[in-house]
Amino acid sequence: MDTIGNLPAGSSNVGVVLAASGISKTYKQGVWPFRRRNHVLEGAGLSLNRGEIVGLVGENGSGKSTLMQILVGALPADAGSVELHGSMGYCPQRPVVFERLTCDEHFELFGVAYGLTREERRAAQARLYDDLDFARYADERADRLSGGTLAKLNLALALLPDPMVLLLDEPYAGFDWDTYLRFWGMVGRRRESGQAVLVISHFIADEERFDRIIELREGRTAPK
Ligand SMILES: Nc1ncnc2c1ncn2[C@@H]1O[C@H](COP(=O)(O)OP(=O)(O)OP(=O)(O)O)[C@@H](O)[C@H]1O
Ligand SMILES: [Mg+2]
Repeated sequence: MDTIGNLPAGSSNVGVVLAASGISKTYKQGVWPFRRRNHVLEGAGLSLNRGEIVGLVGENGSGKSTLMQILVGALPADAGSVELHGSMGYCPQRPVVFERLTCDEHFELFGVAYGLTREERRAAQARLYDDLDFARYADERADRLSGGTLAKLNLALALLPDPMVLLLDEPYAGFDWDTYLRFWGMVGRRRESGQAVLVISHFIADEERFDRIIELREGRTAPK
């Protein structure tokens, strides 16, 4: 598979921020003679343009998280290519946090990892606490957060460096109604500023919130 590369500047695809095609992935399980192959992706692909909110739907086990991990470079594909134009952030389906660190400490740690200055990090952190309404948990350890608040921290950490392309795997599964609306407010502001968001979910309730919806079925992607 091609390594994640940048689209050439001034290319005709100047509005494209992420383009993937021909993605295939087979998981091999067990040992011989009981080896089993699970062909999860068989030529899947998608593209994201600036200022676009795209949904990726598919039933449980259809390969959505597998595709997202390949798009972000966390999992190698067997075939296909991924091209990225600009910075990328992602929110995994299972939060990756350090259970003994507080929310504040996560922001500090991730701010350093993303190369933000202390001022940049503090400003983004304050905005994210406000946007997702969880400042009161700033000093709470991650292992003492409720599932919904943990999901807020997971999302906030992906948003901290303000990436051009944001991939979110089941972002609102644990959110209450107020947080769900706050989430869409944040996504709408990203669209207005020309950033792109891919929302991965096994169900999409509000189709009108998306510019396009792509369905993953039997290893392939198609417009819904
Ligand atoms: N690391 C792995 N090793 C082996 N098989 C895997 C692995 N990860 C996922 N699978 C299998 O690949 C298939 C697709 O899994 P995946 O998690 O990508 O689906 P999904 O569409 O994200 O599902 P969900 O809606 O439940 O989140 C499933 O059959 C799953 O069991
Ligand atoms: Mg999944």
